[in-house]
Amino acid sequence: MLKHVIAYAHELMEQVTQPGDTVIDATCGNGNDTLALSRFVGEEGKVLAFDIQEQAIEMTSKHLSLHDVTNTTLILDSHQRVDHYITPEDEGKLAGAIFNLGYLPGSNKAITTNAESTITAIEKIRRALKPGGRIVLVVYHGHPEGAIEKEGLLAHVKDYDQKHYAVLQYRFLNQKNTPPFIIAIEKKK
Ligand SMILES: C[S@@+](CC[C@H](N)C(=O)[O-])C[C@H]1O[C@@H](n2cnc3c(N)ncnc32)[C@H](O)[C@@H]1O
Repeated sequence: MLKHVIAYAHELMEQVTQPGDTVIDATCGNGNDTLALSRFVGEEGKVLAFDIQEQAIEMTSKHLSLHDVTNTTLILDSHQRVDHYITPEDEGKLAGAIFNLGYLPGSNKAITTNAESTITAIEKIRRALKPGGRIVLVVYHGHPEGAIEKEGLLAHVKDYDQKHYAVLQYRFLNQKNTPPFIIAIEKKK
């Protein structure tokens, strides 16, 4: 069966992570992606998980403690400032990052990701990726800011030089109600 976007986003990340790696959850929300990443990198690995809402950091913290996760640092800050948290040792060695865009389900819909900060974060993360590392974005574009973000992102990533990056879109063509889709960016070896 073709995988749903979240399952496929996780698979894309799992394929490029190894125990001991460092990875980023750029939008931790309720912590579901953070938990998946923490498992991919194992106890010796490290997850940096960002969100601008205290509520999200709390939800993620609770979710992780239920699963005895100890390899994750929760960061109440915008992913735009990700460069302040990537250590010199991780420069050029980062296995990847996941962005689950949009707003926190069941919360204030006005607090949402936007093209400008998402693109700033992608640019900073892509410089720190290891060869073969990936940035995986799940794009929700069925709300007004999401529609603008989608256009900005697609216009931005389509210009990445194919000698250095592979850029994939994974999208169901026959689903109703503007379903989310994936953009995956891989730094070539
Ligand atoms: C769709 S939710 C994420 C869902 C989450 N990954 C999960 O597994 O439950 C999007 C999240 O992005 C957060 N967000 C919005 N702008 C942000 C920014 N500039 N930096 C970090 N997080 C941001 C929102 O607060 C919200 O919690």
